Amino acid sequence: MSSARQRNGRATRRAARFVLGREHRCHRKARTEYIKIEKTKAIADAQALLRLAILVSDRSFVPTPRALGPQSPEEAMRVGGQAAAIVIAGSAVATILFFGSFKDSNAQSNARYLPQYAADGQLLLPKDFHEWVYVGSPLTPNALNGGQANFPEFHNVYIEPGSYAIYKKTGEFPEGTIFFKELQLTLPQENADGSRTEASGRGYFPGKWNGADVTVKDSKRFADTNGWGYFNFNHHEPKASMAKVKSKDECAYCHIANAKKDEVWTQFYPLLDNKDAR
Ligand code: HEC
Repeated sequence: MSSARQRNGRATRRAARFVLGREHRCHRKARTEYIKIEKTKAIADAQALLRLAILVSDRSFVPTPRALGPQSPEEAMRVGGQAAAIVIAGSAVATILFFGSFKDSNAQSNARYLPQYAADGQLLLPKDFHEWVYVGSPLTPNALNGGQANFPEFHNVYIEPGSYAIYKKTGEFPEGTIFFKELQLTLPQENADGSRTEASGRGYFPGKWNGADVTVKDSKRFADTNGWGYFNFNHHEPKASMAKVKSKDECAYCHIANAKKDEVWTQFYPLLDNKDAR
């Protein structure tokens, strides 16, 4: 007949396999909803397992050098059981940490990147804007603008994701919203109108990056330009690391006069304009 300690050991190992099996399935599926439900279940499992492991282990056990190198067979068994309990407890903690990391990554996706300024008030080039929410790419090629477009490139526009999350809920751009308009040249022309012919057809195709324009909402700091600050980070690469605010007659006047919503050209960005799309 097996001892109580052995039975406990087997039950503990079964419970551990169950939890680890769950982790494995979660790895494969990794769907948010699934993870949310499984996370709660697995944490409860892990906590139960931890309690079990503490029961199984000898309360007076302290890991000493002697425990690491058992002297007699009986002692080897005792230490073995304790070691198993510690491994199981460790896996329970690992489970908690594993699901905890999902919680953190969700928290990160809702965290906002707010504008950063140098001591002299210049705006620092926003970080990681390529990870932001992409809203559209207006294009004004030279060939359609008398050969001399002000911005002959694609204007790839991104909004900072935390601000977008708030906009989705409220329909207003919150203080600290950043729009990043990255300019991107078209690939070299093959036809007189600046276009080229690729496998998908004749048209304009994105090439090298070519500087950026940025707007920031801050009603106090940029009161002179109706609450938005305008910045240019070069019209070539590399982008400047910081930029001075532009005057109203350089930028804001045109946005104020014609942009559909709060100085933003939402008429060109269905994601921000069409309530059904939100
Ligand atoms: C003559 C009008 C005009 C002026 C001046 C102007 N813009 Fe714009 N801006 C637009 C239009 C139109 C769009 C959207 C379509 C496009 O990019 O072609 C736009 C889009 C933007 C966007 C993308 C977000 C948004 O509001 O839609 C940023 C950022 C931006 N402009 C910054 C600037 C900065 C910085 C300056 C000054 C250096 C400036 N703009 C000057 C007309 C203007």
